[in-house]
Amino acid sequence: MKQSRKSYTVGIVGASGAVGEELLLILEERSFPIKKLILLASQRSVGKEMEFCGRKYPILETTPEVFARENIEIAFFSAGSNISKQYAQHAVDSGALVIDNTSFFRMQEDIPLVVPEVNPYDIVKNAKIIANPNCSTIQMVHVLAPLHKEFGIERVDVSTYQAVSGAGKRGMEELITQMQKFFAFDLNSVESEVFQHRIALNLIPHIDVFLDNDYTKEEMKMLNESQKIMHANFQLSATCVRVPILRSHSEAITIRFKKKVSADSARDILRNAENVVVIDSPNENCYPMPITATNTDSTFVGRIREDNFDKRILHLFCVADQVRVGAATNAVRIAEKWIQL
Ligand code: A2P
Repeated sequence: MKQSRKSYTVGIVGASGAVGEELLLILEERSFPIKKLILLASQRSVGKEMEFCGRKYPILETTPEVFARENIEIAFFSAGSNISKQYAQHAVDSGALVIDNTSFFRMQEDIPLVVPEVNPYDIVKNAKIIANPNCSTIQMVHVLAPLHKEFGIERVDVSTYQAVSGAGKRGMEELITQMQKFFAFDLNSVESEVFQHRIALNLIPHIDVFLDNDYTKEEMKMLNESQKIMHANFQLSATCVRVPILRSHSEAITIRFKKKVSADSARDILRNAENVVVIDSPNENCYPMPITATNTDSTFVGRIREDNFDKRILHLFCVADQVRVGAATNAVRIAEKWIQL
């Protein structure tokens, strides 16, 4: 691998959020070549500090001018679509590469949408903005792409079990507060602000807004984004469900291939897939669970089995840490590939 000696002025927009905090940890863990670090959030956070590599850094306000003033070369955006809409172009105009964690740019034709294990070739040196896919899509394509290469996918049906971290820090706090009220026998006084209903001890089959076709935007992201990343046009229908789990998403996936498949061959392929770990010994009660994946950078897959009726269909279960694999780690992996070009 070509080693890059250059180091960069890195900005994080939304540094104080769930993904922003994780970005800091991952940049430190992976010794990302940082010359200068600029932490950005809303005006509310000005005056606060965050730690990176044993040093405290002030949080600055996100403004149109800050990118040029601080000479930011790589800007990670993780503060929500509206903030990307408002500020990403200012970062680009000042010469920065924007790696955007929101949905704002993902489906724009001229913007690469990248999962480095799947379509690294879409990262180009002169890119101005590279979009980071939706969290549920990232872990799904980690599993689909290697199987597609071998057997050709015709159709995917996926049901998700998505952690509250997908709704940011406020989502996590809402679950924790509601669980505390449950243990204080006070669940009746619970108010839901982030989610449409009580999330503690409940499931909500509703993530993002409903569209005219009765699917949610989250469900349509899984179709549109996976086709764009994999450059393939298989069919896909999703049901996305919010579950009272703090930070790892799970997915039950049914895949129909163009060819006959066996569970053994799929296991072999997935064992060799980058950043995928197969845990599949049902007789020993071994399969992936949210607690397996939390705080890791891999997508875990198990329960791989053949369909009872159709030899072209496999069923499996995959889990990954939404904040890391589904957001921050993917973004840093994109940046690592980009600096190597
Ligand atoms: P702040 O902490 O100052 O509100 P999460 O996804 O965990 O909810 O985090 C959202 C992130 O987006 C936080 O860092 C938050 O900063 C940031 N953010 C929210 N509104 C703005 C804004 N108007 N300008 C810049 N950053 C913002």
